[in-house]
Amino acid sequence: MNIWMERGQFSPNIEGVELDSSAFKRNFLFGVATSALQIEGAVSEDGRGRTVWEKYAEERPGFIQDNAKPDIACDHYHRWREDIELMKKLGVSAYRFSISWPRIFPNGRGEINEKGIEFYENLSKGLKEAGITPWVMLYHADLPLPLAENGGWSNPETIDSYLLYVKAVTKRLGEQVDTWMTFNEPISMVNDDLNMNNRSLKDALQGGHHVLLAHGKAVDIIRKNSPYAKVGIVLNMEPVYPASKKEEDKKAARMLDRSFNHWFLDPLYGKGYPKDILGFYGDDAPQINAGDYETITTRTDFLGVNYYQSFHGEHDANAPMNAKRIMEDDMEKTDFGWNIYPQGLYDILKRIHTEIPAISSLVVTENGASFHDTMSPDGSVKDYRRIRYLQEHLKAVQKAKQEGLPIDGYFVWSLMDNFEWRAGYKERFGLIFVDYVHNQQRTIKESGKWFSHFIS
Ligand code: FCB
Repeated sequence: MNIWMERGQFSPNIEGVELDSSAFKRNFLFGVATSALQIEGAVSEDGRGRTVWEKYAEERPGFIQDNAKPDIACDHYHRWREDIELMKKLGVSAYRFSISWPRIFPNGRGEINEKGIEFYENLSKGLKEAGITPWVMLYHADLPLPLAENGGWSNPETIDSYLLYVKAVTKRLGEQVDTWMTFNEPISMVNDDLNMNNRSLKDALQGGHHVLLAHGKAVDIIRKNSPYAKVGIVLNMEPVYPASKKEEDKKAARMLDRSFNHWFLDPLYGKGYPKDILGFYGDDAPQINAGDYETITTRTDFLGVNYYQSFHGEHDANAPMNAKRIMEDDMEKTDFGWNIYPQGLYDILKRIHTEIPAISSLVVTENGASFHDTMSPDGSVKDYRRIRYLQEHLKAVQKAKQEGLPIDGYFVWSLMDNFEWRAGYKERFGLIFVDYVHNQQRTIKESGKWFSHFIS
């Protein structure tokens, strides 16, 4: 990886690469991604249970931007047929969506809710009929509320509940789904436990360890119920470059990098948790029992990588691990304030491949940008900055592919504007514009038209 990048030298462009769709082979998957809570709405319909998101939206004023709620979101629960038609129009070959656990088991476990599972049966069938491959995420930040209130992932019983849920879902959808993903962004789950759910560091890290165990055990269940499908997990990665050539800054960048990017990557691929970070956590480090690593390293078919931005790391004696993450003022940013650095995507893919050559398939499972798009009087949405963002990141993927890295797919986050967690509806990531105020009308943005043209 490009370990040295001077401050002020982050470029929003990949130099020397001409974007060329023919560099991506026929079987390369171009897709779009969403998650259940962010698009479905219908939070109280057909027996769905609750999550912390509805609870916090109701009970914590100011917790979510503009006090927005996920209750209606994109109303995808009722409009999924129209949304499949839009995907057909875009011409994508795969759709990554997530299954809402509280729709299947409203209380987390117990009786299966038929209406809930039927929704995903119909959706998967509809996708197949449209020639779009369903990529199914089993867990995307929507733990059923009773489980969240009973310790969440820090409680080992949540592992068993998750496995019952995975068993039920893969039994019913095993024949229709080609690809399963066990978890989205475990490090975000740990951070949410710390920053949102008021759990201690020890509980949050133990929760992360339980997630890895649940992942390993789920893989076996999925293989049994869906023997022809591929299985993987999705990690989010944010390369951290040293802020200067000073040793202390290099060390700071390394600690930030290892605690964020390697914390889950390393144990999944047989290296165990990074020792320096374990040392830093001390008594808060997760308890690892005999056999745990064996469970965690269960073989998978691909690794999903979500990539949005990169950072610099700088020494700071007052910060945890003596390391501070820097937001560069002079760096180009999305409207969300996220750094734009496509080279970081290339660097992280290259590094994963170099350090863990055993990973035979890498998929960019999320990449995209939020801009505060508006509709022009002529009815179009001219999101030209998103087009540039996508082009440069696709160049990064192309470059990595041309160097022989095993990259098999690229999913844009997101199919359409949606509920962006604590940012509510302010941040728009979609290739499709959603009019939340009037009528839920969907409009393909210029970026959607460009992406469609590129992949065709
Ligand atoms: C990722 C999440 C996804 C979405 C994007 C913008 O970290 O997985 O749900 O919020 O960020």
